Amino acid sequence: MRLRSPGGNECPMPNDSIAHREGGGRVLRIRHLNISLPLYFIYPMTSDHFALPTAVDWSHWLLQSRVQPGDWVVDATAGNGHDSLFLAGLVGAAGRVFVFDVQETAIVATRRRLEAAGVLERCELIHAGHEHMSTRLPEDSRGQLTAVMFNLGWLPGHDKKCITNTETTMSALVQALESLRPGGLLTVVVYPGHAGGDEESQTIAVWASALASNTHEVRHTRSPNRQKRSPECWAIRKRQTKPDNQARNSGDV
Ligand SMILES: C[S@@+](CC[C@H](N)C(=O)[O-])C[C@H]1O[C@@H](n2cnc3c(N)ncnc32)[C@H](O)[C@@H]1O
Repeated sequence: MRLRSPGGNECPMPNDSIAHREGGGRVLRIRHLNISLPLYFIYPMTSDHFALPTAVDWSHWLLQSRVQPGDWVVDATAGNGHDSLFLAGLVGAAGRVFVFDVQETAIVATRRRLEAAGVLERCELIHAGHEHMSTRLPEDSRGQLTAVMFNLGWLPGHDKKCITNTETTMSALVQALESLRPGGLLTVVVYPGHAGGDEESQTIAVWASALASNTHEVRHTRSPNRQKRSPECWAIRKRQTKPDNQARNSGDV
Protein backbone atom coordinates (compact mmCIF):
# COMPACT_ATOMS: atom_id res chain seq x y z
CA MET A 1 0.00 0.00 0.00
CA ARG A 2 1.18 3.54 -0.73
CA LEU A 3 0.03 6.78 0.82
CA ARG A 4 0.16 9.91 -1.31
CA SER A 5 0.37 13.28 0.36
CA PRO A 6 -1.28 16.35 -1.21
CA GLY A 7 2.21 17.49 -2.21
CA GLY A 8 2.43 14.33 -4.36
CA ASN A 9 5.01 12.45 -2.28
CA GLU A 10 4.56 8.73 -1.90
CA CYS A 11 5.28 6.82 1.28
CA PRO A 12 5.32 3.01 1.22
CA MET A 13 3.30 1.14 3.82
CA PRO A 14 3.79 -2.58 3.11
CA ASN A 15 1.11 -5.06 4.17
CA ASP A 16 -1.00 -2.46 5.93
CA SER A 17 -4.36 -1.00 5.08
CA ILE A 18 -6.39 2.13 5.53
CA ALA A 19 -9.81 1.83 7.13
CA HIS A 20 -12.51 4.15 8.36
CA ARG A 21 -12.80 4.24 12.09
CA GLU A 22 -15.94 4.49 14.12
CA GLY A 23 -16.78 8.09 14.87
CA GLY A 24 -15.16 9.35 11.64
CA GLY A 25 -11.63 9.82 10.31
CA ARG A 26 -9.34 7.25 8.73
CA VAL A 27 -6.78 5.00 10.34
CA LEU A 28 -3.81 2.97 9.16
CA ARG A 29 -3.99 -0.65 10.39
CA ILE A 30 -0.49 -1.99 11.05
CA ARG A 31 -1.12 -5.73 10.99
CA HIS A 32 1.98 -7.17 12.62
CA LEU A 33 1.69 -4.79 15.58
CA ASN A 34 -2.10 -5.16 15.70
CA ILE A 35 -2.62 -1.44 16.12
CA SER A 36 -4.49 1.30 14.25
CA LEU A 37 -3.08 4.81 14.01
CA PRO A 38 -5.03 7.87 12.83
CA LEU A 39 -3.80 9.08 9.41
CA TYR A 40 -3.27 12.62 10.66
CA PHE A 41 -0.69 11.11 13.03
CA ILE A 42 1.03 8.99 10.35
CA TYR A 43 1.43 11.50 7.48
CA PRO A 44 3.79 13.97 9.17
CA MET A 45 6.10 11.08 10.15
CA THR A 46 6.28 9.54 6.68
CA SER A 47 6.24 12.42 4.19
CA ASP A 48 6.12 16.16 3.87
CA HIS A 49 2.37 16.09 4.12
CA PHE A 50 2.13 19.86 4.46
CA ALA A 51 4.25 20.72 1.39
CA LEU A 52 2.86 23.75 -0.44
CA PRO A 53 1.41 23.19 -3.91
CA THR A 54 3.73 23.27 -6.93
CA ALA A 55 3.13 25.69 -9.81
CA VAL A 56 1.23 22.95 -11.69
CA ASP A 57 -0.77 22.09 -8.54
CA TRP A 58 -1.83 25.76 -8.27
CA SER A 59 -3.06 25.80 -11.85
CA HIS A 60 -5.03 22.58 -11.34
CA TRP A 61 -6.46 23.82 -8.07
CA LEU A 62 -7.70 27.04 -9.67
CA LEU A 63 -9.09 25.26 -12.71
CA GLN A 64 -10.91 22.56 -10.82
CA SER A 65 -12.95 25.05 -8.84
CA ARG A 66 -14.10 26.83 -12.02
CA VAL A 67 -14.44 24.35 -14.87
CA GLN A 68 -17.85 22.65 -14.88
CA PRO A 69 -19.32 19.66 -16.73
CA GLY A 70 -20.28 20.71 -20.26
CA ASP A 71 -17.65 23.48 -20.49
CA TRP A 72 -15.28 24.04 -23.41
CA VAL A 73 -11.60 24.42 -22.52
CA VAL A 74 -8.15 24.38 -24.15
CA ASP A 75 -4.92 22.60 -23.20
CA ALA A 76 -2.44 24.69 -25.20
CA THR A 77 0.53 22.33 -24.58
CA ALA A 78 -0.42 18.64 -24.72
CA GLY A 79 2.98 17.16 -23.77
CA ASN A 80 2.35 13.74 -22.26
CA GLY A 81 -1.36 14.41 -21.82
CA HIS A 82 -1.57 14.70 -18.03
CA ASP A 83 -3.18 18.15 -18.15
CA SER A 84 -5.50 17.15 -20.99
CA LEU A 85 -6.69 14.17 -18.98
CA PHE A 86 -7.24 16.40 -15.96
CA LEU A 87 -9.32 18.84 -18.04
CA ALA A 88 -11.26 16.01 -19.70
CA GLY A 89 -12.28 14.84 -16.23
CA LEU A 90 -13.53 18.31 -15.31
CA VAL A 91 -15.62 18.95 -18.45
CA GLY A 92 -17.24 15.49 -18.39
CA ALA A 93 -18.87 13.71 -21.31
CA ALA A 94 -20.84 16.78 -22.38
CA GLY A 95 -17.79 19.06 -22.49
CA ARG A 96 -14.99 19.60 -24.95
CA VAL A 97 -11.18 19.85 -24.60
CA PHE A 98 -9.18 21.29 -27.49
CA VAL A 99 -5.56 20.17 -27.25
CA PHE A 100 -2.60 21.69 -29.10
CA ASP A 101 1.00 20.56 -29.55
CA VAL A 102 3.65 21.04 -32.24
CA GLN A 103 5.21 17.63 -31.65
CA GLU A 104 3.71 14.50 -33.15
CA THR A 105 5.15 12.49 -30.22
CA ALA A 106 3.17 14.62 -27.78
CA ILE A 107 -0.06 14.23 -29.73
CA VAL A 108 0.46 10.44 -29.89
CA ALA A 109 1.24 10.19 -26.15
CA THR A 110 -1.76 12.35 -25.26
CA ARG A 111 -4.11 10.38 -27.51
CA ARG A 112 -2.94 7.15 -25.89
CA ARG A 113 -3.49 8.50 -22.39
CA LEU A 114 -6.96 9.88 -23.17
CA GLU A 115 -7.98 6.69 -24.97
CA ALA A 116 -6.85 4.50 -22.06
CA ALA A 117 -8.97 6.62 -19.72
CA GLY A 118 -12.00 6.37 -22.04
CA VAL A 119 -12.30 10.15 -22.54
CA LEU A 120 -10.87 10.60 -26.04
CA GLU A 121 -14.23 11.35 -27.68
CA ARG A 122 -14.63 14.56 -25.67
CA CYS A 123 -11.19 15.81 -26.80
CA GLU A 124 -10.00 17.25 -30.10
CA LEU A 125 -6.26 16.82 -30.67
CA ILE A 126 -4.79 19.52 -32.89
CA HIS A 127 -1.28 18.92 -34.22
CA ALA A 128 -0.37 22.60 -34.55
CA GLY A 129 1.19 25.43 -32.60
CA HIS A 130 -1.02 27.19 -30.06
CA GLU A 131 -0.22 30.44 -31.90
CA HIS A 132 -2.80 29.24 -34.45
CA MET A 133 -5.47 28.93 -31.78
CA SER A 134 -7.87 31.52 -33.11
CA THR A 135 -7.97 29.96 -36.59
CA ARG A 136 -7.96 26.31 -35.44
CA LEU A 137 -10.68 26.53 -32.80
CA PRO A 138 -14.28 26.23 -33.97
CA GLU A 139 -15.97 29.52 -34.83
CA ASP A 140 -18.59 29.10 -32.11
CA SER A 141 -15.95 28.73 -29.37
CA ARG A 142 -14.86 32.37 -29.73
CA GLY A 143 -15.47 34.19 -26.45
CA GLN A 144 -17.04 31.01 -25.03
CA LEU A 145 -14.14 29.11 -23.44
CA THR A 146 -14.18 28.61 -19.67
CA ALA A 147 -10.43 28.01 -19.40
CA VAL A 148 -7.18 27.83 -21.32
CA MET A 149 -4.12 26.28 -19.70
CA PHE A 150 -0.48 26.50 -20.74
CA ASN A 151 2.29 24.35 -19.26
CA LEU A 152 5.32 25.75 -21.08
CA GLY A 153 8.81 24.37 -21.65
CA TRP A 154 9.79 21.04 -23.22
CA LEU A 155 8.17 17.63 -23.45
CA PRO A 156 9.46 15.69 -20.41
CA GLY A 157 11.66 12.79 -21.47
CA HIS A 158 12.20 14.16 -25.00
CA ASP A 159 14.26 16.68 -26.97
CA LYS A 160 14.95 19.67 -24.71
CA LYS A 161 15.59 21.79 -27.81
CA CYS A 162 11.91 21.68 -28.72
CA ILE A 163 10.63 24.21 -26.21
CA THR A 164 7.96 26.85 -26.29
CA ASN A 165 9.36 30.19 -27.44
CA THR A 166 8.54 33.70 -26.35
CA GLU A 167 7.16 34.99 -29.63
CA THR A 168 4.67 32.18 -30.28
CA THR A 169 3.76 31.93 -26.60
CA MET A 170 2.87 35.63 -26.45
CA SER A 171 0.82 35.44 -29.63
CA ALA A 172 -1.04 32.44 -28.20
CA LEU A 173 -1.64 34.08 -24.82
CA VAL A 174 -3.27 37.10 -26.45
CA GLN A 175 -5.49 34.82 -28.54
CA ALA A 176 -6.33 32.72 -25.48
CA LEU A 177 -7.53 35.76 -23.54
CA GLU A 178 -9.73 36.78 -26.47
CA SER A 179 -11.24 33.29 -26.61
CA LEU A 180 -12.27 33.26 -22.95
CA ARG A 181 -15.81 34.00 -21.90
CA PRO A 182 -16.35 36.64 -19.22
CA GLY A 183 -15.32 34.99 -15.94
CA GLY A 184 -13.05 32.57 -17.82
CA LEU A 185 -9.59 31.61 -16.55
CA LEU A 186 -6.17 31.47 -18.20
CA THR A 187 -3.39 29.63 -16.36
CA VAL A 188 0.27 29.64 -17.42
CA VAL A 189 3.00 27.54 -15.81
CA VAL A 190 6.41 28.94 -16.79
CA TYR A 191 9.89 27.45 -16.26
CA PRO A 192 12.43 30.32 -16.07
CA GLY A 193 15.25 27.96 -15.02
CA HIS A 194 16.08 26.71 -18.54
CA ALA A 195 17.63 28.48 -21.53
CA GLY A 196 15.00 30.67 -23.14
CA GLY A 197 12.63 30.18 -20.22
CA ASP A 198 13.91 33.25 -18.43
CA GLU A 199 13.13 35.54 -21.36
CA GLU A 200 9.72 33.88 -21.75
CA SER A 201 9.02 34.40 -18.05
CA GLN A 202 10.02 38.07 -18.09
CA THR A 203 7.99 38.83 -21.21
CA ILE A 204 4.90 37.19 -19.73
CA ALA A 205 5.43 39.17 -16.51
CA VAL A 206 5.55 42.49 -18.39
CA TRP A 207 2.47 41.62 -20.45
CA ALA A 208 0.38 40.26 -17.56
CA SER A 209 1.29 43.15 -15.27
CA ALA A 210 0.08 45.63 -17.88
CA LEU A 211 -3.40 44.13 -18.24
CA ALA A 212 -6.04 46.59 -17.08
CA SER A 213 -7.23 45.69 -13.60
CA ASN A 214 -10.83 46.60 -14.39
CA THR A 215 -10.97 43.95 -17.11
CA HIS A 216 -8.63 41.25 -15.76
CA GLU A 217 -7.67 39.83 -12.36
CA VAL A 218 -4.02 38.71 -12.32
CA ARG A 219 -2.19 36.49 -9.78
CA HIS A 220 1.35 35.13 -9.77
CA THR A 221 3.04 32.49 -7.57
CA ARG A 222 6.64 31.28 -7.37
CA SER A 223 9.22 30.14 -4.80
CA PRO A 224 11.51 33.17 -4.33
CA ASN A 225 13.91 31.39 -1.97
CA ARG A 226 14.98 28.63 -4.38
CA GLN A 227 18.44 29.06 -5.93
CA LYS A 228 17.61 28.07 -9.49
CA ARG A 229 14.67 30.12 -10.68
CA SER A 230 11.68 28.00 -9.82
CA PRO A 231 8.55 27.31 -11.89
CA GLU A 232 5.93 30.02 -11.72
CA CYS A 233 2.19 30.04 -12.19
CA TRP A 234 0.24 32.95 -13.64
CA ALA A 235 -3.53 33.02 -13.35
CA ILE A 236 -5.57 35.58 -15.26
CA ARG A 237 -9.33 35.82 -14.94
CA LYS A 238 -11.36 37.81 -17.42
CA ARG A 239 -13.73 39.87 -15.32
CA GLN A 240 -17.46 39.74 -15.83
CA THR A 241 -18.47 43.07 -17.31
CA LYS A 242 -20.14 45.33 -14.79
CA PRO A 243 -21.77 48.70 -15.16
CA ASP A 244 -19.16 51.41 -14.40
CA ASN A 245 -20.61 52.49 -11.06
CA GLN A 246 -20.87 48.86 -9.79
CA ALA A 247 -17.22 48.21 -10.69
CA ARG A 248 -16.13 51.37 -8.87
CA ASN A 249 -18.03 50.40 -5.71
CA SER A 250 -16.60 46.85 -5.68
CA GLY A 251 -13.02 48.17 -5.87
CA ASP A 252 -12.45 46.44 -9.24
CA VAL A 253 -11.11 49.60 -10.87
C1 LIG B 1 5.91 20.96 -20.40
S1 LIG B 1 5.28 20.19 -21.86
C2 LIG B 1 3.56 20.17 -21.48
C3 LIG B 1 3.17 19.19 -20.40
C4 LIG B 1 1.78 18.65 -20.60
N1 LIG B 1 0.76 19.62 -20.44
C5 LIG B 1 1.51 17.38 -19.80
O1 LIG B 1 0.51 17.34 -19.07
O2 LIG B 1 2.29 16.44 -19.91
C6 LIG B 1 5.38 21.49 -23.07
C7 LIG B 1 4.85 21.08 -24.42
O3 LIG B 1 4.71 22.27 -25.21
C8 LIG B 1 4.87 21.88 -26.54
N2 LIG B 1 5.05 23.05 -27.41
C9 LIG B 1 6.18 23.72 -27.72
N3 LIG B 1 5.90 24.75 -28.55
C10 LIG B 1 4.56 24.73 -28.77
C11 LIG B 1 3.65 25.51 -29.54
N4 LIG B 1 4.08 26.58 -30.24
N5 LIG B 1 2.34 25.18 -29.54
C12 LIG B 1 1.90 24.10 -28.83
N6 LIG B 1 2.70 23.32 -28.08
C13 LIG B 1 4.00 23.63 -28.05
C14 LIG B 1 6.04 20.94 -26.49
O4 LIG B 1 6.07 20.14 -27.66
C15 LIG B 1 5.76 20.16 -25.21
O5 LIG B 1 5.09 18.96 -25.51
